[in-house]
Formats: sequence, C-alpha cells, structure tokens
Amino acid sequence: MGSGFFGLTVAERVAEELGLRVMVIDRRSHIGGNAFSENEAETGIEVHRYGAHLFHTSNEPVWQYVNRFTKFTDYVHRVYTNFRGEVYPLPINLGTINQFFRSAYSPAEARALIAEQASELDTSEARNLEEKAVSLIGRPLYEAFIRDYTAKQWQTDPTQLPAEVISRLPVRYTYDNRYFNDTHEGLPVDGYTAWLERMADHPRIEVQLDTDYFDASQPLNKQATVGQLPVVYTGPIDRYFDFAAGELQWRTLDFEEEVLPVGDFQGTPVMNYAGSDVPYTRIHEFRHFHPERDYRTDKTVIMREFSRFATRDDEPYYPVNTPEDRDRLLQYRELMKGEQDVLFGGRLGTYQYLDMHMAIGAALSAYSNKVAPMFEKVS
Ligand code: FDA
Repeated sequence: MGSGFFGLTVAERVAEELGLRVMVIDRRSHIGGNAFSENEAETGIEVHRYGAHLFHTSNEPVWQYVNRFTKFTDYVHRVYTNFRGEVYPLPINLGTINQFFRSAYSPAEARALIAEQASELDTSEARNLEEKAVSLIGRPLYEAFIRDYTAKQWQTDPTQLPAEVISRLPVRYTYDNRYFNDTHEGLPVDGYTAWLERMADHPRIEVQLDTDYFDASQPLNKQATVGQLPVVYTGPIDRYFDFAAGELQWRTLDFEEEVLPVGDFQGTPVMNYAGSDVPYTRIHEFRHFHPERDYRTDKTVIMREFSRFATRDDEPYYPVNTPEDRDRLLQYRELMKGEQDVLFGGRLGTYQYLDMHMAIGAALSAYSNKVAPMFEKVS
C-alpha cells in the first residue's frame, strides 16, 4: 500500500529475492510518492512535484542498491538566502558571518564573537524556540536568518514554539557551504520517475494507481486484505486506525509554479527568503538541478514554496511532533502490535520525517528482518 520509496523497495525485494507476486496500490495517479517528478510541459524542465528532492547518503548498502536502478549526476547542493535584499550563503558559515558583520574574522575570531553573543542566554534554561536559538548562535544571526523564516514555516511566532523544535543550529567556521556532508550525493541522471519506474519494472510486480486503500468499493481495500494477505502499509498511521487515538498533526506546503520568459531567474537552484516581508519561504529554479542537460535557454520554471499547518485533506509533509502527537503515536504503536500481517513503514506509516535514503534503508532492513523471515516460515 503506497508506491513511494519504502513501498517500492519492499516490493522489488520481495519480487526479486523471494520470487513472489506483489501488487502495489496507490491512490495517486502516478507512482513514486513524494519523490515523483515530471517534465514541465512548455519547457521540458524536470520539476519535483512535491518539493525539491536531493539525493544524498553515507549508507553504503543503500548506495549500492539505488545504483542498480539509476546513475547519479555529480550535483552538489548549495543554498543561499535573501535577507533584506542581500544574498548570503547557507548553512551559516564564515562567509555568512563575515558578510553579515561586514568583517574579515578568522575562524577563531568568529567563534569567539558568536560565543559571546550566544552567552546572553543559557541553552538549558531556554523556554521556547527563540530563547534556544539565541543561546546557540546569538541574537543578531538569529533575528536575521532564523526568526522570520521559522515563523513562516510554522505560521507561529518562535516565542510560542517549543524549544525542542530545534536540537542544534550548526554554524560552520569555514567557508564550506556544501549543504550535505554525506559520502554520496547526486541527482538521478534520467530523473526521479525513470528511477522509480525501473524499481517497479519487474514481471512479478503489478502497480494499480488511483486506488484508495480505504475505498471499500475497490477489491484491494483494507477489509479485504488484512488477515488475508501480508500487507505493507505506508500510508498515515492514524488513518489506518480510523483516528482512534486522535489525529497526528502535520505541516504541509503549497507550491506556486511559474514559467518565466528568461533563461535564468536566480542563478541557483534554491533561494531562501529569510524575512517576513516576503510570504514564501523559498524559490526553487529547477533548471539548475541539472546544469548538464540541454534545456532551452529562453524560459525557466520557478516554484515558490509556502508552509502551513495541514488539515485532513492536505498532503502531510512534515510531522509537527508536539508532546500530544508523541503520546498519540505511542497509542498507535500499541494498536500496531495487534496487526499481525501488516508491516507499517515509510514516513507516513511511522510518523517520522525520513530522507529518501532513510526510507530506502528502513525498507531494506524491514525486508531482511521482517518480510523475508515471514515467508521463510511459511515455506
Ligand atoms: P511517500 O509519501 O513517498 O509514499 C507514500 C505513498 O502512499 C504515497 O504515494 C501516497 O499516495 C500513498 N498513499 C497514502 N495513503 C494512501 C491510501 N489511502 N491509499 C493508497 N495509497 C496511499 N528526501 C531526501 O532525501 N532529499 C530531499 O531533498 C527531500 N526533500 C523533500 C522535500 C519535501 C517537501 C518533502 C515532504 C520530503 C522530502 N524528502 C526528501 C523526503 C522524501 O520525500 C521521503 O523520504 C520519501 O517520500 C519517503 O517515501 P515513503 O515511501 O515513506 O513515503
């Protein structure tokens, strides 16, 4: 149930390794879950439909596995932020600090400055996100790069957000602004959808789209399958149990896509907008994810991203994870124990933000530790 990376990885392993037939259903009209991408009609530029997806991993088995289905480009992710009409590199590094303070601090000088500014508050005594952030990086950097951006992401003033929303705020005392530190990084050469389709392209895998697991009128619904077939469920866990312990909260994103009559809009794939003067959090310009491609040079595609709390009808993107959510999750975990032949997995099935490599890694482990032994027992 679900054709995202978790569901497809388990399906591929079961079909290939155990020689069993697998039916993958998804309520969307395409496979791939949130990693799905397609070429924008007018320009042919690959657009990640559910927000920018950058692949990176230090997990060797995952890297070996994904390379069976796609080659990767040598793309390296870098992000910039526009604060009051000036562009700074992220994550906050020596370049950001020196530009912001109009200075040429050495690493040691910058470290001493930030330590002094952060000493205003004690991290262990922080009562909310704002206090915690100030205690970690000092007030000037917090107010410029964190405060309004966080308020936009959460639609909540950071003084009203719990301190636990951030565990740390990394500051680099070098000019390194490479976003990820993983051993492997890149984008699928032929795009995400080609990669995902290759995973599903197996004689023993059948994919049925536009099929909702909770629609009793379709034959592979919950009542018809649970207890009859082994099920891998990668949808929302609260929905599976009919919200018995209450709803788990999520944040969602709204995307505003536009084709512009210029070859290059912002010169980089992702530009954050730090301030409250701009309603969106960032702009993606997809052509820059693939500089190696021969895209037309007279048009470009941009996507503005807005963040807000999700209602039941929205796509759930990031777990809100309040203490109440965690309490509900524990109740759902208890209920899960009663579902013998159902494996709950993926980001929705575990109420967890998972990067792609984590979803794939979790699926490979679930296959080896739970799914394969289940069938070995039967045979
Ligand atoms: P996923 O959500 O992909 O798949 C679940 C599937 O279940 C969906 O296709 C859904 O339609 C289906 N489903 C749900 N309910 C159903 C029902 N009732 N009936 C039938 N089907 C149902 N990762 C990364 O490594 N680098 C990145 O840059 C990003 N960027 C990023 C941006 C944004 C905005 C988000 C939200 C996420 C990312 N990710 C990411 C994370 C990445 O999207 C994530 O790792 C994968 O989607 C996880 O795959 P899953 O299979 O767990 O879920």
